[in-house]
Amino acid sequence: MSTASKPRRDRGPGTLYAIIGLVMALLLIGTGGYFWLSGRTPQGLAVGGPFALTDGDGKPVTDKDFRGKYMLIYFGYTFCPDVCPTTLNTVADALDKVGPKADKVRPLFITVDPKRDKPAIVKQFAAAFGTRVIGLTGSAEQIAAVAKAYRVYYAEHRTGTGPDDYTMDHSSVLYLMGPDGRFVAPIRADLAPDAMAAALGRLVL
Ligand code: NI
Repeated sequence: MSTASKPRRDRGPGTLYAIIGLVMALLLIGTGGYFWLSGRTPQGLAVGGPFALTDGDGKPVTDKDFRGKYMLIYFGYTFCPDVCPTTLNTVADALDKVGPKADKVRPLFITVDPKRDKPAIVKQFAAAFGTRVIGLTGSAEQIAAVAKAYRVYYAEHRTGTGPDDYTMDHSSVLYLMGPDGRFVAPIRADLAPDAMAAALGRLVL
């Protein structure tokens, strides 16, 4: 996405532009796109927070289980035809390239399709990307709560009349959270492995 800045308007229909700007900002915040326009986010911006989910063995897991490690969080779903597997492949490749710092990072895949993505399914899916990626699921309510905390958009998109005839629309952003659980930075999910490795090398201390 372009990050070209808009020229300042000193006169003209300022109120209208302000309203349009506000609406656009809200839409972008909703999809995580805000970060691409603002670049680095200021410390303390409310992204992320406590979560309670289920791991691939059906055991409860919370954000606190990852304290002391960076969490690299991606939201998606295992039936995703393209973007999710591509992103997780890139994450796995980037961590292979980043060197010893990779051991400080826990890549978490959190499904937005808890109806289909039961623990065994997220486990199997995560395992396709090597030993590092951790697949997490939860109840519909737990997933809704964590997605809200991370400002992730997702919605069922019907493709037919059968119970499994749907895809999930979802925002595609990686969130790097620090060893204290706080938001560090977003990382673009569409980076090439080298660029993602470079970003991780810079951000992981
Ligand atoms: Ni996807």
